[in-house]
Parts: sequence; structure tokens; C-alpha cells
Amino acid sequence: MTSKGVNWNNFKITPHPTLDVYNKLAKSYDKRNAMMERVLSKARSIFSVLKGDVLEVGTGTGFNLKHYNPKTNIVALDWSPGMVSQAHLKVKKHRLENVKEIIIGDIQKLSDYFDPESFDYVTSSCVFCSVPNPTLGLKEVFKVLRPYGKLIQIEHGLTEIKLINLGLELFDPFTFKRFGFHLNRNHFKNLENSGFEITHHQKIDRVGIFRLLISKKSLKYKI
Ligand SMILES: C[S@@+](CC[C@H](N)C(=O)[O-])C[C@H]1O[C@@H](n2cnc3c(N)ncnc32)[C@H](O)[C@@H]1O
Repeated sequence: MTSKGVNWNNFKITPHPTLDVYNKLAKSYDKRNAMMERVLSKARSIFSVLKGDVLEVGTGTGFNLKHYNPKTNIVALDWSPGMVSQAHLKVKKHRLENVKEIIIGDIQKLSDYFDPESFDYVTSSCVFCSVPNPTLGLKEVFKVLRPYGKLIQIEHGLTEIKLINLGLELFDPFTFKRFGFHLNRNHFKNLENSGFEITHHQKIDRVGIFRLLISKKSLKYKI
């Protein structure tokens, strides 16, 4: 389960402002994220129950990688070379032999790199808040997931509480410009529009800004 005949030496990622932000933040990312990790680290342990072939998209500096079962085959992907080089350091530090490849690539183009239905699971944490076109990215996830595969996500976005959503909308332009992510993404809608059926969702914080989302491919949906 490796990427299909792509010559990574000739491979170019289309420039995007979000990508520049993450390249700049890469070295300080873990320190900046320390407070957020208090909320997220427990939720990340969900990844330890997965078995088989896993594609983690938007792996960043690799916070999740040490959580996977040692018998799982993991391919990780991120479009920021800066973030990927930090992830490589974690793989080395924790001697993660189950991480088979870390690919520099765009989630919105997954089917350029992988054959259809290559993975049992696709995973993400805090990623679809920053993918420029989240529906396009999710449709690409759909293509590379096996028919009974699952998409497991820890994501933040809009809540069921109007007042909180107003605040998220208000601060969205700031977080996007400064940190490359949106606060006002509606993952429920985006998943549904990309052919997924949410089978489980759970609040991680009290108001449900952060959520665990588990989705399967809707059998009615064809791309
Ligand atoms: C907020 S960070 C989260 C990193 C990591 N998953 C974590 O939990 O700490 C978002 C990551 O998604 C990556 N990303 C955003 N859009 C992407 C895209 N279109 N293709 C690949 N990676 C992308 C960014 O480069 C960044 O590393």
C-alpha cells in the first residue's frame, strides 16, 4: 500500500497562502499548540484502535502518529514541507516503524497519488478547517477509501449554539490570516455534500466546537 507511480522529485505543489502560513509556523507549531493539546490529546487516542491501511491527511508535525497501533500501516500526507520535516523528527524520536511514508501532497488531489479504494481508514485532526476547498478534499478522501472504510476526524467548527457561532464568525478572518485555519466550517454539511454519512459524532469540549466525527461512504453516492 504505497503511493502510485508518482515521481516525488518532479512533484510540485501549487502555491497557496495557507501553505505559506504553515511553512512559517512549522518550527514553533508544537509550542504554540501546547494549550490546545490539553483538550485534544485524550481524543487522539481514538486512532489507537484502527487496524489495516491508514492514510492520515494533514498530518502536520505528526501529533497523532505515536497513537497508532504498531501493526497499522500508516501513510501520512501534508502539503507543507516545513510541517512534514517536523513529523519526520517525531517518527525518528518515537521509532515509529508503522509510519511507512510521509508524502508532501495536497488533500484536494489524493486520487493523483493513490489508487481508488486503497485505505481502510482516512484520518484527520484539525485539518478540514484549513483545506481551501473542504468539499473537494472530502470527495478525494471518498475515492481513496475502501467501500467499507471509515473517515475518522477530530475537527473544530460551528456548534449548535448561535451565540458561539457568531463569535466564531467574528474571529474567523483573524485566525485565517494569522494561523491559516477557519473557525466557521460546517463539517456536517461538507461531509454530507461529499458523499459521507456520519455514523457517530461526539463533543470533545463542553460546547462542541471540537468534535470527533466518524463517517462511512454513503452507498447511494457515486463520484
Ligand atoms: C492545524 S494543522 C493540524 C496538524 C495535525 N493534524 C494536528 O492535529 O496537529 C493543519 C494541517 O493541515 C495541512 N493542510 C491544510 N490544507 C492541506 C491540503 N490541501 N493538503 C495537505 N495538507 C493540508 C496544513 O499544512 C497543516 O499541517
